Amino acid sequence: MLKLLLQLFFVSFCFISGGYNIKTGPGCMIELMKFDMGGSAAVFGAAKALGQIKPLGVEVNNTDAEGRLTLADALVYACNQGAEKIVDLATLTGACIIGLGSSIGGVFTPSDDLAKEVFEASEASGEKLWRLPLEESYWESMKSGVADMVNTGARPGSAITAALFLKQFVDEKVQWLHIDMAGPVWNEKQRCATGFGVATLVEWVLKNAS
Ligand SMILES: *[C@@H]1O[C@H](CO)[C@@H](O)[C@H](O)[C@H]1NC(C)=O
Repeated sequence: MLKLLLQLFFVSFCFISGGYNIKTGPGCMIELMKFDMGGSAAVFGAAKALGQIKPLGVEVNNTDAEGRLTLADALVYACNQGAEKIVDLATLTGACIIGLGSSIGGVFTPSDDLAKEVFEASEASGEKLWRLPLEESYWESMKSGVADMVNTGARPGSAITAALFLKQFVDEKVQWLHIDMAGPVWNEKQRCATGFGVATLVEWVLKNAS
């Protein structure tokens, strides 16, 4: 913005200074100084184009909820690559630890078919999962005054609103399932990672890869 203001100021100063030619001599490019508004023109042009493209605007009102932003990028990428089914795993929310404790991962998905596949895999692997609702009415707390959404909503139901946030970035034609594994990722007693999710994913891929 500062650059834009300086550009505008400079252009005004040069051409409204009462007839003084402060650029003289060969190569001074006085006749080309129309292009000196190029920087501000580029900023205005970009603002106009973005206004027409209307990219999804997210207000980051919690910098500690950054994982879901990179996960959103990954989901968009996977959809663009033509994925038919996506299972994401993330230690996404403290709320899921509070809700399900350290032995159970939370599952969120609009797809009953994909849920069935993944739950069958988790029964074979022995890793415990529990399906939680994608309650659309909770999206209300994710509304923003300045963008399409904020990146964290109110504290109640925040594992659900986190999943709803991810859902915004998944193509509706793609089957998508999100596992919030913030609880079972860590073995508190042994102070080590559990590897939760590996066995279920392997089972799922082996059973369903065609
Ligand atoms: C982010 O916005 C939501 C919805 O307005 C609000 O409930 C929440 O408290 C905000 N989070 C922070 C860290 O300000």
